[in-house]
Amino acid sequence: MSDKITEVQESALHAIDEAKTLDDLNNVKIQYLGKKGLIQGLMQEMRTLPREEKPAFGQKVNACKQEVTAVLEKKQQELEAAATAAKLEAEKLDITLPGDKVRLGTMHPLIMIQQEIEDLFLGMGYKIAEGPEVEQDYYNFELANIPKDHPARDMQDTFYIDPNTLLRTHTTAMQMRELEKAKGKTPIKLICPGKVYRRDDDDATHSHQFMQCEGLVVGENVTLADLKGTLEFMANRLFGEGRTIRFRPSYFPFTEPSVEVDVSCPFCNGKGCSVCKGSGWIEILGAGMVHPHVLEMNGFDPEKCSGFAFGVGLERVAMLKYGINDIRNFYTNDVRFLKTFDRFD
Ligand code: DAH
Repeated sequence: MSDKITEVQESALHAIDEAKTLDDLNNVKIQYLGKKGLIQGLMQEMRTLPREEKPAFGQKVNACKQEVTAVLEKKQQELEAAATAAKLEAEKLDITLPGDKVRLGTMHPLIMIQQEIEDLFLGMGYKIAEGPEVEQDYYNFELANIPKDHPARDMQDTFYIDPNTLLRTHTTAMQMRELEKAKGKTPIKLICPGKVYRRDDDDATHSHQFMQCEGLVVGENVTLADLKGTLEFMANRLFGEGRTIRFRPSYFPFTEPSVEVDVSCPFCNGKGCSVCKGSGWIEILGAGMVHPHVLEMNGFDPEKCSGFAFGVGLERVAMLKYGINDIRNFYTNDVRFLKTFDRFD
């Protein structure tokens, strides 16, 4: 009988030795030490023994149970320690590794130019006006002294929504809204940046959507010299100190006289280079003195007041300033392009 105890003990110790995981070990525990386990089975067998043999047998079974329990507990501790070590290894966190960089969006170059222009005019006491991109023919053309048969009204240039409604072709529409709103009261000093639309085929220098900033000053004795001083100040702020500007005669229906404005080339300082095509000058905007008829239509007395106005294309300024040679870059949202304006990179 005691051989059987030895046999059970040996096979239990062997099974413990073989157990590779805590699960294996638990199975061994149930098999040998459980309520219906083999060691408990030995206890049951004691009942069948003669009285005098019972104490010795009982002691042996108990000794076997203690030995198996002790070895099993030791093995359990070993396996638990190994499992914890494996878990720690798998979840290893290297706190010295650099963190993931959070990618911030970048300021769009056109917004950068817009803000620069807004800042410089706010500093001169101008207010900033805003208005609708879906505009009435009346403000875009009629009040701007653009008669019905003017080529600028051609369907090819304008996105019409219905005969009286269109996508504004220039921010001059806002000049008209502001003049009308002032009801003949001066002074007026404002800029209006915003999107404008034309039925152009997109290429390196044309875009059916682009941005302009309109400027308008109306008051007593406002002269062409005021316009020139203002624009020269703007050119210096946008393109660096030392810029000069020149006026060339031009035509816009809403100004008289009208001028095209050139800035001395910031790349060659006016000596002539490939950007200014050797001329030393780069055209940047259109401007003029507000046409007396426009003042009149909007309720101002051209005998008592006068005004100047200008309209500058923001893409053109940005292209010159940042050396961009394709206007489509502003609208295709290629992150490689936009990232070049990342001030935090
Ligand atoms: N509206 C003109 C354009 O889109 C630009 C312009 C020229 C605006 C002369 C003005 C101005 O206010 O006086 O080409």
